[in-house]
Amino acid sequence: MPAEISGIGEFTGQEVLLKGWVYNMRSSGKILFLQMRDGTGIIQCIIEKAVVGDEDFELASGLTQESSLEVTGTVREDARAPGGYELSVTGFSIIQIAESYPITPKDHGNTFLMDNRHLWLRSRRQNAILRIRAGLIRFIRDFFDNRGFILCDTPIFTPNACEGTTTLFETDYFGDRAYLTQSGQLYNEATAAAFRKVYTFGPTFRAEKSKTRRHLIEFWMVEPEVAFADLDDIMQLGEDFIIEIVGRALETYRDLLEGELERDVSRLEKVQGPFPRISYAEAARILKEKGGDFEEGGDFGGTDETVLAGEFDSPVFVHRFPSAIKAFYMEPDPDDPTYSLSVDLLAPEGYGEIIGGGQRVSDLGLLKKRIEEHGLPEKAFGWYLDLRRYGTFPHAGFGLGVERTLAWICGIQHVRETIPFPRLLNRLSP
Ligand code: 4AD
Ligand code: MG
Repeated sequence: MPAEISGIGEFTGQEVLLKGWVYNMRSSGKILFLQMRDGTGIIQCIIEKAVVGDEDFELASGLTQESSLEVTGTVREDARAPGGYELSVTGFSIIQIAESYPITPKDHGNTFLMDNRHLWLRSRRQNAILRIRAGLIRFIRDFFDNRGFILCDTPIFTPNACEGTTTLFETDYFGDRAYLTQSGQLYNEATAAAFRKVYTFGPTFRAEKSKTRRHLIEFWMVEPEVAFADLDDIMQLGEDFIIEIVGRALETYRDLLEGELERDVSRLEKVQGPFPRISYAEAARILKEKGGDFEEGGDFGGTDETVLAGEFDSPVFVHRFPSAIKAFYMEPDPDDPTYSLSVDLLAPEGYGEIIGGGQRVSDLGLLKKRIEEHGLPEKAFGWYLDLRRYGTFPHAGFGLGVERTLAWICGIQHVRETIPFPRLLNRLSP
């Protein structure tokens, strides 16, 4: 009976056929303890000389790490075995004896592991992180789908900037200049006028010369946009969203988080609303009191974000940043137009900004002025300005970075482990 390790419990007492790879093997005389992995899990397979015979036992003894094989055997429940089950092997067939595998159970440096990312993915830890990533993406989609948001995919090739011109990747588009998208937001604003509540979810690109544990060159962002929503509405949406996805991650992956990743899940259990909401001005006051080198008027650095988040147990919203440091599309605060109706959500435990968003300029004249002030070509924004010509409407939205959110949920140091093949400042391979 063909089976997969993740569902092996259903076959207790029966003979099954497993296909997979050697994760690890040790021998004690007449018994081989083979840790076999099949991508869905790992199971200990017991190969006894007395059962398989001298010749096959000899053959099995030659199995190397990551050799591929098929194994038949009887499933036994065993509380002592990792995973709770064991396989008493009755026969096997080797597909390939693997060449000497570069990643061994010893400690390897990060550069080496990243160079071998295509193989490193097979390890338990990477497997756990990326399994949770797949779940997180499902929870994100469910959240918006269940609330009547329409998924509208936005283009990756774009003729203009969304988040400022300094971090654009330029490419040749049949003789024209095109850029890789930094955010689907501008297109989202058009689809929001068509469908009211929309989201886009895809890869985004930033030519950022940042070499930090929070920055990727290519990352995945989910961006909701809501017609007739204001700054407060969008903060509430962000809060409901974070509580749901963190809650579902805990519910679904508690074992992996606590086990393989040794995550202190009590920190995630504290993610309950309402999240504190402080203005940029209040945040600046806190930072000054703490005596760092933050200068009011500027953007927060990674350390500033960590200090601010450290004041709270749950994620914290910082709203109303100075207009001068935010993108051209941010609606000014009617109470003081030097500030904008913008918001960032800072994750606890030093994971930094995971959400950025706000309310958009809805007045045609003001938007034109902003585009000019930011030195952007008005021609490329013609269609975007149309949204303010034909029934302009107040609207707001945000973007959440999947990798930073996953790093936080998993409690891991660096975003490079949160995507199968990370693109970093100095890394385009494998
Ligand atoms: O704050 P950002 O730049 O916001 C926007 O792009 C808006 N247009 C989104 C919107 O309102 N629709 O990026 C949003 C989020 C950040 O909070 C962060 O989680 C993630 O995207 N992010 C990155 N993640 C990894 N590496 C990078 N270089 C990132 N830059 C942004
Ligand atoms: Mg931001």
